[in-house]
Amino acid sequence: MSTRSRPAVHDRGSRPVVSRARAATSAPWPPRTALVTGASSGIGRAAALRLADQDTQVLLVGRDGAALDEVAAVAGGHRFATDLAAVGSENAVASRAAELLGDVDLLVCCAGVGAAGPFDVMNPTRLRNLVAVNVLSPMMLVRAVLPAMLDRGRGRILLVGSVAGAVGVRGEVAYSASKAALVGFADALRYEVAGRGVSVTLCLPGAVDTPFFRRRGAPYVRRWPKPLPPGLVADRMLAACARGDAEVWVPGWMSLAARVHGLSPPIYRRLAGVFG
Ligand SMILES: NC(=O)c1ccc[n+]([C@@H]2O[C@H](COP(=O)([O-])OP(=O)(O)OC[C@H]3O[C@@H](n4cnc5c(N)ncnc54)[C@H](OP(=O)(O)O)[C@@H]3O)[C@@H](O)[C@H]2O)c1
Repeated sequence: MSTRSRPAVHDRGSRPVVSRARAATSAPWPPRTALVTGASSGIGRAAALRLADQDTQVLLVGRDGAALDEVAAVAGGHRFATDLAAVGSENAVASRAAELLGDVDLLVCCAGVGAAGPFDVMNPTRLRNLVAVNVLSPMMLVRAVLPAMLDRGRGRILLVGSVAGAVGVRGEVAYSASKAALVGFADALRYEVAGRGVSVTLCLPGAVDTPFFRRRGAPYVRRWPKPLPPGLVADRMLAACARGDAEVWVPGWMSLAARVHGLSPPIYRRLAGVFG
């Protein structure tokens, strides 16, 4: 078992761009306990392994029981297989967490699904599922664990959004909209819990090398930027969460797109037309 150590706050390679809103929480880091959704694959899996490495007791949540078992075999901790799109699943997860972990010091909402292709022919069932997993599930889970965090006066919430939520991506209408919802959710929630000991960190990754693209049924085809390793994204988002940062872009330079978009939407649209 490894010794408890603080995560690297300075990143290797390009520096992450983070907002400097501070003093959000006095909750200790590493957290004693963490509930991680999307822990069966990709970024969530990497985050769960990193946390376990720091002796955090983790509740791994996903649908694929065998994949969760595999992660649990390395990370230890507990696993709970459930479909987060199902109504009431957040209550089942929260009660399992209370039973197995006691207090949840850190909630990582990483479960998510993608979708690519024209919106006008998108399967409505798939659209509902995407919104349920990407938007409703994190909101409901936060709703389920937040009261106890506020009662204790400490806790951390880490939401995994996407660059696509800051600047709508062509061919990913529903996905972009779902991740944009998380931007508004994180911003507004942060105001609400400010000064009450709970931090809210939003991670906005660019392309990451995970099964995400295969599972959405459309491979990642851009030659640039190259998809990042999930472990790097996990490191950066956990480091941002440890600092209590409001948000972290991975890679950091991608925040430029949002800045241009915010400063001048027409210029952004022209550039996006040229560079895709
Ligand atoms: N990969 C990228 O390029 C990229 C870029 C930006 C943001 N993101 C975001 O990063 C997060 C993690 O994605 P990833 O790249 O790590 O993809 P991934 O490898 O496909 O992992 C997705 C995770 O979400 C879980 N999940 C999906 N639907 C679920 C459901 N209905 N109920 C419970 N769990 C469910 C999956 O669990 P099961 O496999 O057990 O069903 C899996 O653990 C997502 O929110 C995604 O939108 C990804």
